[in-house]
Amino acid sequence: MTGGEIVTTVVDRVVRDRAARWVGRAGVYLPSFAELGYPSTIPEARFAALRSVDPDRPDAANLFRVNWYNDWSRSGLAAEPCHLIFPPALTGVRSPIVMALGSFFPMIGAHKVLAAYGCLIPRLVTGRFDPAYQRAVWPSTGNYCRGGIAISRILDCRGVAVLPQGMSKERFDWLHAWVARPEDIVRTPGSESNVKEIYDRCAELARDPANVVLNQFAEFGNYVAHYACTGPALAHLFEALQQERPNLRLTGFVAASGSAGTLAAGDYLKERHGARIVVVEASECPTLLRNGFGEHNIQGIGDKHVPYIHNVMNTDVVVGVSDRSTGALDLLFNSDVGLGYLADRRHIDPELLARLKFVGLSGIANLVAAIKTAKRLELGAEDVLVTVATDSASLYGSERKKFLASQHPDGFDAVNAGEIFGQHLFGAADNDVLELTHGERTRIFNLGYYTWVEQQGVSLEAFERRRDQGFWRELRQAAPAWDALIKEFNAATGVEESR
Ligand SMILES: Cc1ncc(COP(=O)(O)O)c(C=O)c1O
Repeated sequence: MTGGEIVTTVVDRVVRDRAARWVGRAGVYLPSFAELGYPSTIPEARFAALRSVDPDRPDAANLFRVNWYNDWSRSGLAAEPCHLIFPPALTGVRSPIVMALGSFFPMIGAHKVLAAYGCLIPRLVTGRFDPAYQRAVWPSTGNYCRGGIAISRILDCRGVAVLPQGMSKERFDWLHAWVARPEDIVRTPGSESNVKEIYDRCAELARDPANVVLNQFAEFGNYVAHYACTGPALAHLFEALQQERPNLRLTGFVAASGSAGTLAAGDYLKERHGARIVVVEASECPTLLRNGFGEHNIQGIGDKHVPYIHNVMNTDVVVGVSDRSTGALDLLFNSDVGLGYLADRRHIDPELLARLKFVGLSGIANLVAAIKTAKRLELGAEDVLVTVATDSASLYGSERKKFLASQHPDGFDAVNAGEIFGQHLFGAADNDVLELTHGERTRIFNLGYYTWVEQQGVSLEAFERRRDQGFWRELRQAAPAWDALIKEFNAATGVEESR
């Protein structure tokens, strides 16, 4: 198994210096995690220079856009992260549901490029990855490996994407355009819920020392990046709302778990605002709910395992959402008929309707899970639920066509739209909602034993120490330590600070 360690000092200075020279030749200056968490601290000159850089090009300057504050045009810096607020007229619950939008991240239109940065950069600056000789291997269900390939391109190193062959066509189209060679896309059997097959392929690849597997499910850099960057960005959103309405409480943070990286923001929000942490999974594969298994199409939520970086003992609620809901709502939100229904019959704000396209399938799952949580916990108008849309609907046009053909072969009309609204939003039931007791948390934590200790070779001691919140508190100290090493690394590249 790769990952699972926290290394905050340079372990091989020769490799570190060679890496710095290599990256320096590519003209790369690395942003710190503090800068990505608080982009207003990035020198103005750098943002001014960024304006002329296409956010979807593998340009080193785009590393500074790997944060939540890209504006709606994706060229400048916004005062607060782009987000949607779902009102009671759409959700049927009184709690405001605030969703930060990941599609404004550069190059891949999803926030998983932050996770990729968080996994690779700590290795680079500690001398544990040599871009001149090694390949970065990115196991994923599709977005993380795209982020990894984007970061690899910028660092001018080889990147290899490992993902299930059944993922959306849009993901593969993107990968074909970005990988250095076609063999850098490795397809594993199955689809969304076949993470074990990805692990197996990575174990084979790892036998070659030229391959460095950046296992997002076990790399603490993924956790730390979200804790240090996503956490403060979401807190900022809530605090801005609270300025207008001082009675608001941040009652919950809702996030579907793939690698569980995003959930680290929940640890931040709980510490700062006492938010409950709600983890979302597909009802068709209820691993956390019931140690279950199964197939589903909420792309990006890997399952049938408990990620090593999931702070299970700090998680409060598990919510299952059916992929029938996400498929149907994706159609409602992305069809003229659906949007017409929401405008004419439900009188939803046209600006919100125009922006629903920024919510991908797992974002819809988060929305439905937030509604179910609000119902179960009987939340009121002052209880804010914060969540994210990892990516946008633009990655799922091919899936939408399939859904339409299978569910509405005779066409999709306003009555169908009303049925979807009634069944999956307004009438969403609070089934598959589990409030975690200590016993339930322990069950979920223990389930991880089979993946990590039995299959992936983690020591029992290392596995067990993650029960203790002291472990996670210490882990969070890695961000400033890595930032100091990023500073040293930048100095060694010879690239000027505000190129
Ligand atoms: C579309 C989508 N949603 C949700 C997730 C889950 O995010 P995380 O891996 O941070 O748990 C992913 C992860 O790849 C994803 O691609």
